[in-house]
Amino acid sequence: MTIAIDWAKVNLQEYPNMVSAEVPGPRSQEMHERAAGIMKGYSGQVKLFPVVFDKGHGVTLTDVDGNTYLDFSSGIYVTTLGHCHPKVTEAVQQAAGRLMNCHDFTTPIKLELLEKLTGILPGDLSGVQLYDSGTTAVEAGLRVCRMATGKSEFLSCFGDFHGKSGHAVSLARMNRANGPSRTPGFYMMPRPNPYRPLFKKPDGAIDTDAYLAFYDTFITEATTGQVAAIVLEPIQGWAGSIFPPDDFFPKLRKWCDARKILLFADEVLTSMGRTGKYLAMEHWDTLPDVVTLGKGFGNGFPVTAMVVRKPYAEAVESISASTSYGGNPMACAAALASIVAIEEEGLLENALRLEEYFVPRLKKMMAEHPVIGDVRCKGCLMGVELVKDRVTKEPFDEAGKQVYQRAFRKGLAWIPAGHILRMSPPIVMDVDTAAKCMDMIDEAIGETEKDLGYKN
Ligand SMILES: Cc1ncc(COP(=O)(O)O)c(C=O)c1O
Repeated sequence: MTIAIDWAKVNLQEYPNMVSAEVPGPRSQEMHERAAGIMKGYSGQVKLFPVVFDKGHGVTLTDVDGNTYLDFSSGIYVTTLGHCHPKVTEAVQQAAGRLMNCHDFTTPIKLELLEKLTGILPGDLSGVQLYDSGTTAVEAGLRVCRMATGKSEFLSCFGDFHGKSGHAVSLARMNRANGPSRTPGFYMMPRPNPYRPLFKKPDGAIDTDAYLAFYDTFITEATTGQVAAIVLEPIQGWAGSIFPPDDFFPKLRKWCDARKILLFADEVLTSMGRTGKYLAMEHWDTLPDVVTLGKGFGNGFPVTAMVVRKPYAEAVESISASTSYGGNPMACAAALASIVAIEEEGLLENALRLEEYFVPRLKKMMAEHPVIGDVRCKGCLMGVELVKDRVTKEPFDEAGKQVYQRAFRKGLAWIPAGHILRMSPPIVMDVDTAAKCMDMIDEAIGETEKDLGYKN
């Protein structure tokens, strides 16, 4: 497969380039202050670095002061194919001039998307409904699980994130939501994290079977026995790019089948090429019963999907699944153009080519920096865990904050995450640009170590 990403090639003489004396620059500061007087509830990402972006192209961003950045987070894991991908932009422009919304009637572009999507998804994942946010797709998936099984309870996992509606927050850590209480029938359990294992074999290796055995005990002791589904992110995104051990999902699939519990993979963050596959679950040859797609699905246009295996398609008919905006022509055009771009530009292959660069580079950084406790990468999804001490593995939040801000000031636009550096560059990046981004992080870690009294 030829990789065709010339349109996103970066002139590294011009990017990144910080032209204002301080960053965020004066125009950013002035505009953000005015906006923040009105707009409430900005994310931590913005509060830590309140820059005002003006435009983006491919893997680059430009702020209102003229500073230019390399994007190492695809916005918020969203612009997987780069900012303003020409195919996606043109498709949305055309759709906007033709027909913007007609409820959930079939349109030619919707038909084309549905056939294309079911063609790239594995197995019999063939029943689709379209939505406008990851959260609404997850909510619909939960309703399908209840309808299909006649059961009402859900299991989810520590560290996972599934959105911010009442049920979605009930699938995750509640203290961030600070207000609502967990919906009855929603339960959380630990999942295997190879760097911080809870259940270990006598030789110290993570014990996946012990986790599954614990789930059985948990169901007996804590639920009414009416578990419809277990809902998981294949790879924990917000928790810090945490990968499961390779035997976890194949074993979980069998565990679910034996108990008639549905396996619901929330791939809002991990799908559509992020890890070098359309679904991250493909890395473990595991077919979920229900899957949600989002973020990179429309490469910035709000379009998401809830997809079920054939046996559960009838259940979707019974949940009044449609919405006002789900599957509107612009959304379908964006999602279709994104899949076409992945195919025509060889972007799954490019994500894997980048992984080949990232993995040894991350290992080299770990060898050189004592504050790095663990590094991980699949495709263009990476995590670097900063610890005060490699033996105690105590999380090093101050280091995480400093590295984030220092690298941003050098021109790296990315996402903060406590002590875990999370990186998710657009999969249209070339290796030279990826190396430049890693240089900035490497330098920022070195400067932070010096500042905090660590030797490297
Ligand atoms: C795994 C996962 N599920 C669901 C969501 C919610 O998606 P949205 O913000 O589009 O509602 C997110 C958002 O980050 C996510 O990462």
